[in-house]
Amino acid sequence: MSKVALITGITGQDGYYLTKLLLEKKYVVHGTVRRSSTINTQRIDPLISKYKSNENLTLHYSDLLDPSSLNQLIQKIQPDEIYNLAAQSHVAVSFKNPVFSTQTGTLGPLSILEAVKNADKDIKYYQASSSEMFGGIDSQQLNENSKFIPKSPYAASKVFAHQITTIYRESYGVFGVNGILFNHESPHRGETFVTRKITRAIGRIKFGLQSKLTLGNLDAYRDWGFAGDYVKGMWMMMNHKTPSDWVLATGESHSVREFLEIGFKEVGLNYEDYVVTSEKYFRPNEVNHLLGDPSKAKQYLGWEPETSFQELVKLMVQSDLKLAEREKTLIENNLLDPTWEYST
Ligand code: NAP
Ligand code: GDD
Repeated sequence: MSKVALITGITGQDGYYLTKLLLEKKYVVHGTVRRSSTINTQRIDPLISKYKSNENLTLHYSDLLDPSSLNQLIQKIQPDEIYNLAAQSHVAVSFKNPVFSTQTGTLGPLSILEAVKNADKDIKYYQASSSEMFGGIDSQQLNENSKFIPKSPYAASKVFAHQITTIYRESYGVFGVNGILFNHESPHRGETFVTRKITRAIGRIKFGLQSKLTLGNLDAYRDWGFAGDYVKGMWMMMNHKTPSDWVLATGESHSVREFLEIGFKEVGLNYEDYVVTSEKYFRPNEVNHLLGDPSKAKQYLGWEPETSFQELVKLMVQSDLKLAEREKTLIENNLLDPTWEYST
């Protein structure tokens, strides 16, 4: 019989890649979506077209801040696995909307864990933990035992969710998994995260739709991998014999500046001719350096990243070149108003 999975945050980047993976593995997938005034299912629309008609993919309105809807949903669909990917996931925004970010990041996971604890069947729970929890002060390589020094409301809420998952694992025997994922990107990455902001701008600059790119700290270092590789790791963790905490990372760290260099070079341009910085994009408390050590996942899960940093930058640039070309055609046909630089 097919396994049943529930994914919160199915409309996000990881939601897309994980849904695709689980459907390919013949899971029956349920996902939660929030009502919004504009359509927010663009990423998964191609999967909906492909799978919804044979009832392998079903969407439900819910919100992490509505425990009763989550509880009812879990009782109704009786999932084997729950992947809690939903979060207000933008670190800088968490400083602007701290209460919402924290409520979503803490009460959401706790509500699901309560429903899992009280369910009649054993349900596995995946918590989307984050390398942001480490605070990243220097170039030290971080693993499952490294200290958490959260530096934002987002990171603090992730620490709570991480620890409450461990507490439910130890206290009630819940199969609770913490995936401590370092930054992972893709052509489906939200456009206000730095990698996608850069590749969108490169495409638009190349097609004459944008003249400059305004960023914040160019000297921040991140351990950037490809999201498609990381969702495989999530599934492996959930299908390992024992629940645990797992770091997924590439083991390489690169600066925003290096990302810019490679990205602009891919289209024959020099980033220094286009990039300006503004205080607007600096954070009240910066995470300077993140570098992960994925040895445990490699040893026990057999997980390894398959996409290099250079390949990642190039695949994102190539995808955004195509998008900019389509955008240009729409503008030329008066179907879209030109925008010279996004404000985000
Ligand atoms: P994302 O693209 O921002 O997606 C976040 C998802 O959460 C979206 O589906 C969003 O819905 C949903 N959401 C936000 N607030 C919600 C709420 N109150 N109730 C229900 N749903 C809500 O994030 P991602 O990159 O896919 O990341 C997935 C998870 O992994 C997040 O928890 C993130 O914090 C964590 N994480 C990400 C990374 C990374 O590098 N990508 C690394 C470590 C951990 P809408 O579409 O309606 O906004
Ligand atoms: N977003 C953004 N926009 N970041 C910028 C900019 C800019 O204009 N300019 C420089 N940066 C720097 C940020 O200051 C940060 O040091 C780095 O680029 C990466 O920023 P983001 O891409 O926003 O990602 P993040 O590292 O803060 O958070 C992401 O990764 C976490 C895992 O470590 C998110 O996906 C989190 O949800 C995730 O937990």
